[in-house]
Amino acid sequence: MLTHQHPALHIAVTGTVMNTKELINTVNALLAGSKGLLAMDESTPTCNKRFEEVGIPQTIEYRRAYRELIVTTPGLGDCISGAILFDETIHQATKDGVLFIDLLKQAGIIPGIKVDEGTTDLSGSPGEKITEGLDGLPTRLTEYYALGARFAKWRAVISIGPHIPTSECIEANMHELAVYAAMCQEAGLVPIVEPEVLMDGPHDLKKCYDVTEKVLHVLFENLDKQNVNLKALILKPNMVLPGLNCPRQASVATVAEATVTCLLNSVPAEVPGIVFLSGGQSPEMATAHLNAMHVKFEDKLPWVLTFSFARAIQAPALETWKGKDENVPAAQQKLHQRACLNNAARRGEYTPNMENNMA
Ligand code: 13P
Repeated sequence: MLTHQHPALHIAVTGTVMNTKELINTVNALLAGSKGLLAMDESTPTCNKRFEEVGIPQTIEYRRAYRELIVTTPGLGDCISGAILFDETIHQATKDGVLFIDLLKQAGIIPGIKVDEGTTDLSGSPGEKITEGLDGLPTRLTEYYALGARFAKWRAVISIGPHIPTSECIEANMHELAVYAAMCQEAGLVPIVEPEVLMDGPHDLKKCYDVTEKVLHVLFENLDKQNVNLKALILKPNMVLPGLNCPRQASVATVAEATVTCLLNSVPAEVPGIVFLSGGQSPEMATAHLNAMHVKFEDKLPWVLTFSFARAIQAPALETWKGKDENVPAAQQKLHQRACLNNAARRGEYTPNMENNMA
């Protein structure tokens, strides 16, 4: 079929085929078994904020020690398929000098990297944000690939408020996500595409449903415009939840039903996997919601449905560690426990009493 094409084009086409195969292998490995992803890619300000909440000094050495605790957790690779790192962390090593990225690979965990550079105010639209980081992104992606990263993450945030989100905010953020995804696939990295509708505010579950559905529709329109291969990406959305200050909270079954219905209405079946962020839910609720989706919809899901939590996996471990060496084994046990409970949820086998039994 390529016989009449220019030799250079032949190479380009062959290269793309190779690239796609590698991307799909990475996707399959990330979504394998009952595993999920661990987001440990807090930016320096976010990590410092989490440390401050539990009284840990906010220094580069404490951040390094904390990430060492995570990547040296015994058995982590049994439950976690991929770990998302932050730029500071991808260059760091244990106190014995072993690069974190090498430890992850030894544990069978695929290293990934957050490549957005955080959010800034969206001009002309009070209360709304736009994500930064597209400038020079192809060069950074090539560097991260050379360091061993095989997937990337970009987070867009959408807030719900009296007159927001605006269509302009949704369009601008989803356009960026699609451009980022195309750049990642070009560089051999699987894009994790993360449009997060925030939980902050008094809005109800219906509002979150409507906004999430709209955001996802605009996202897939933009991914199509940028010719992104849907088989070689992973979607990382929020669950459909009432706002944190909504007086009417929802049952686990209602959240599971609303979330899966919303995704079935807006995410093409070609997408291989959906990995949830936890977004400020308690660890127990995030796990219970994922579990309920599998219990109710297991045979109706066209995509793998699993987790890519940061707070909902790390919080108990961070609270246990408190920055003290002597607490490392107990903190690692908490981390491993949360990861295992989320594996059980992905199989639809989680029950709340497992929380106490495993402890
Ligand atoms: P949370 O699970 O804490 O929401 O974090 C997930 C994440 O990766 C945010 O970008």
